[in-house]
Amino acid sequence: MNPNHPAPIAADLAQPRWRDDLLREYADLGQKLAQTLPCMEWQMQLPWIDAIVQLKKQRGATILAHSYQTPEIFHGVADVTGDSLALAQVAATCESDLIVLCGVHFMAESAKILAPHKTVLIPDPQAGCSLASSITAADVLALRAAHPGVPVVSYVNTSAAVKAESDACCTSANAVQVVEAVAAEFAADAVIFLPDRFLGSWVATQTDVKLILWHGQCEVHEKFTAQQARHTRERFDAKIVAHPECPPEVLAEADFVGSTSAMGKWLAREQPQRVAMITECSMADNLREQFPQVQFIKPCNLCPHMRKITLPNIHAALLHRQFAVEVAPEVAARARRALQRMLAVGRREAA
Ligand code: 13P
Ligand code: SF4
Repeated sequence: MNPNHPAPIAADLAQPRWRDDLLREYADLGQKLAQTLPCMEWQMQLPWIDAIVQLKKQRGATILAHSYQTPEIFHGVADVTGDSLALAQVAATCESDLIVLCGVHFMAESAKILAPHKTVLIPDPQAGCSLASSITAADVLALRAAHPGVPVVSYVNTSAAVKAESDACCTSANAVQVVEAVAAEFAADAVIFLPDRFLGSWVATQTDVKLILWHGQCEVHEKFTAQQARHTRERFDAKIVAHPECPPEVLAEADFVGSTSAMGKWLAREQPQRVAMITECSMADNLREQFPQVQFIKPCNLCPHMRKITLPNIHAALLHRQFAVEVAPEVAARARRALQRMLAVGRREAA
């Protein structure tokens, strides 16, 4: 199909409506969704899910969804789910030229940077991130001026412009390895690490490289408290698994500290009877299905930016081919270099 002249869309796909046969057709999905959504709620999602599934086939699109997306998106319409790094890599390697990224804006930008010739749509371009908005490219230049010769590692939760001023990117899954690799490559004993001060202070406990930190914080993870984690352990006899974007006193209470992807691997390895996931609360909802024998206790903080992505706006994205993410080619080229330095560390570790 010529992507500039897509085939006309049937009226019932443009305006999803209830049909009784949806219950039968999506019986398996219904079972998954019923674990987390009340009956009326998940049934009301089926017309949207059905229209999106058909539209994406007609458009030849691939839908990528972050692990923090709601269960109806994660289980209902996504072709691939994962953390921000995995999604950007799939965007670059999958066969489809049209990607719908269900996540926040920096994730869609990363996908576009790694797949510059593809169309990357984000259903709501206002889906931001408190970490990404805590720092600008001018701030990075000021940090470099204040610390001449010190290399810069930036978390992927940053704008393309900030990535372009960085030497390497990292995710919470590979931050320690990237910091050490960059320090070795630049023969430096210190690295500027931005923008998350909590992730940075956790990385500093795992390496001898000195870290110069910025003051960004995730508005979701900063809300968790040590008392909440302690109470959950004592009251429910639960293992505590925490994301490194949480404050240090919360991490000190955790049985395991790890990234979005590392948390899933830890669960598969340890198979705890009860676990509290100290992270965005859709994670537990989405993992429940994979680990039916584990009881999930959900201290629940929702990311308001992730919640901006909904079935109706995914549907509108496919229908109207909106909103395409654009990154200026010169910014994208420099940001890509920083992302590729991170990917090279991953390849060296795997070798
Ligand atoms: P990941 O990089 O693990 O996907 O996490 C992104 C994020 O926004 C965490 O809050
Ligand atoms: Fe950003 Fe925090 Fe939301 Fe992740 S959970 S997208 S870091 S605001």
